[in-house]
Amino acid sequence: MTSIAFDAIPRDRLPGLLRDAPKAELHIHIEGSLEPELIFRLAQRNGVALAYPDVAALRAAYAFTDLQSFLDIYYAGASVLLHEQDFFDMAWAYFERAAADHVVRAELFFDPQTHTARGVDIGAVVGGLHRACEQAQSALGISASLILCFLRHLSEEAALATLEAALPYRDRFIGVGLDSSERGHPPEKFARVFARARALGLHLVAHAGEEGPPAYIESALDILHVERIDHGVRCLESPPLVARLAALRTPLTVCPLSNIKLRVFNSLGEHNLPALLAAGLCATVNSDDPAYFGGYINDNFAATFAALPALGPRQGYALLRNGFEASFATPAEKAAWISRLDAAFQAALPDVAG
Ligand code: ADE
Ligand code: ZN
Repeated sequence: MTSIAFDAIPRDRLPGLLRDAPKAELHIHIEGSLEPELIFRLAQRNGVALAYPDVAALRAAYAFTDLQSFLDIYYAGASVLLHEQDFFDMAWAYFERAAADHVVRAELFFDPQTHTARGVDIGAVVGGLHRACEQAQSALGISASLILCFLRHLSEEAALATLEAALPYRDRFIGVGLDSSERGHPPEKFARVFARARALGLHLVAHAGEEGPPAYIESALDILHVERIDHGVRCLESPPLVARLAALRTPLTVCPLSNIKLRVFNSLGEHNLPALLAAGLCATVNSDDPAYFGGYINDNFAATFAALPALGPRQGYALLRNGFEASFATPAEKAAWISRLDAAFQAALPDVAG
């Protein structure tokens, strides 16, 4: 374990340090990176009619009151994606943005059912995204992998059929996840499809404890056997659950700006990220749906640290390091990124940086 004199890092160096540090993004729905400008460009290219006359009108509709109000508009935005090239273009736009934020590892969620329901071939979805991941590595030095998510408002039979349809592309995704409307759709609804994914050797993650209760986090762990919890911020309502998550170092992929836009917290100043870290949890910072929630991963770091005085260099390092440790990359990759992270923090010390 590195010993970095966090208290010696001048506070005014923190924003630049967080901005330029290498980072992992583990909770990004690639359909949630679709910016309004690209939605309109793809709509025109594909002859898809949109319910909004222009980019400004679409952006003006991004005033959400809860998760469902966001999902309704998010699925409508995704309706412009029809061809392999569309999926490539969407993911490539994200990777260019991620590279600017010094993301070196990205694990991208994608929702095949959103597209196959419109008649899109799952091979076009996976193919376009996979091609962008390969180019991210070769052109931008970003290590990228895909995680196939099941929509929890649909049936488990539909999820099972989706997993089977994706099996010809088994080598192009590393895991499965669970997203969409949380309340009323507990993890146990998907016990069989997660068991099947587990038998296939896939990594397992699930959204839980975003809007849903701590019991959903428990059933994601006990019944689905997930390795990470997406969001998970409501775990603090259950001290025994916090103790369990801390003891096992189960990662939480926290998305601060998302939590404000979807009213999980009233303001960033009230976010429980400092409390999650203080409880010894393996929390990470991510963007969730950056095109809809007002920012990419660096915007999340910057706004959250600006709003919460309890977050300083020590917490910044912990969040960034947790991101690498929680990733599904190889141990060698993780060690190399953590060395780069350590070097960035060492360089911010006054005696080294001058
Ligand atoms: N799909 C995209 N973003 C989501 C979120 N924050 N929660 C659940 N499902 C989602
Ligand atoms: Zn999410």
